Amino acid sequence: MDKGLLEKTASELVAPGRGILAADESSGTMSKRLEAVGVEPSAETRRAYRTNLFSTDGYESSISGVILFDETIRQSMDDGTSIPNALSQRGIHPGIKVDTGAKELAHHEGEKITEGLDGLRERCEEYFAMGARFSKWRAVIKIGDSIPSGACLSTNAHALARYAAICQEQGLVPIIEPEVLMEGDHDANRCYEVTAAILDETFSQCKAQGVHIPGALLKPNMVMAGKDCEEQISRDEVAQMTVNCLTDHVPHDLPGIVFLSGGQSDEDATAHLNLMNKMDVQHPWQLSYSYGRALQAEALRTWASGDTDAEASSQLAFSNRARMNGLARSGDWDEGLEA
Ligand code: 13P
Repeated sequence: MDKGLLEKTASELVAPGRGILAADESSGTMSKRLEAVGVEPSAETRRAYRTNLFSTDGYESSISGVILFDETIRQSMDDGTSIPNALSQRGIHPGIKVDTGAKELAHHEGEKITEGLDGLRERCEEYFAMGARFSKWRAVIKIGDSIPSGACLSTNAHALARYAAICQEQGLVPIIEPEVLMEGDHDANRCYEVTAAILDETFSQCKAQGVHIPGALLKPNMVMAGKDCEEQISRDEVAQMTVNCLTDHVPHDLPGIVFLSGGQSDEDATAHLNLMNKMDVQHPWQLSYSYGRALQAEALRTWASGDTDAEASSQLAFSNRARMNGLARSGDWDEGLEA
């Protein structure tokens, strides 16, 4: 394992003012998103939408890395440059989603286990040769009446740690993503408890499997009440509970935490990150973003609008969200800037 390379890549990914664009929706998910805005999904429409985003002027000032899906890392920009090369030329690290999706967990109704370990070493080797320098694996943890089960937490944590170890061996910085879903009517305390449990389990497995923590990144949910809970907490409370949970359950030698947006509104995702970075305390890690929907929702809607300037409007929407989140990295975002 090349610890120097891993640590360098990880620190570049969470450099001040910058964060990650998650554009690694699987072909199935991306197709659904295109259909939802009235676009016929195909490999070409997925490429056209994404290469338009990747051609945005100056977005590298607030985007340090882009996570790609297998289909996308093999596609090219309009001028024929491969997508990973085009990103690298802008000083953006190409990343790759390497899990193969969350499947039903046997004997555990309603729970999932993320698959993709078979052949992972060989796939990582190929992705590294294509220019990828980091990777992502997403585990999904659902809160319900008697879930998550111990089996769901331990199998997902085990898979995350095995994935992280293999990626590090191949020179890719692993983004470890144990996502506690927002779906459900649980309150924020329950989210805190489940988030703490999956973080403990994940880092204990990482330790057992020799994962080099200074060469990895964590992509967690924020601590908040479920979408259907009647008692929603304030933005300040989300920020405080999230930081408390992470401080107590994440190793302090991890270089960075890159949140997912998970279905939060664009502005909430920015505001929460801003509040965490504005706190008077010095956090042990960089607090940054690896947003999918919160960076792209408006960009996708405008791209599909059919307007003559749709491509330029989409780029403007994307660079605006990227800039807002870039400001939230230092607590310098303000609601007034949204207008
Ligand atoms: P969201 O920000 O839309 O949750 O996506 C991030 C991601 O990559 C989920 O795996």
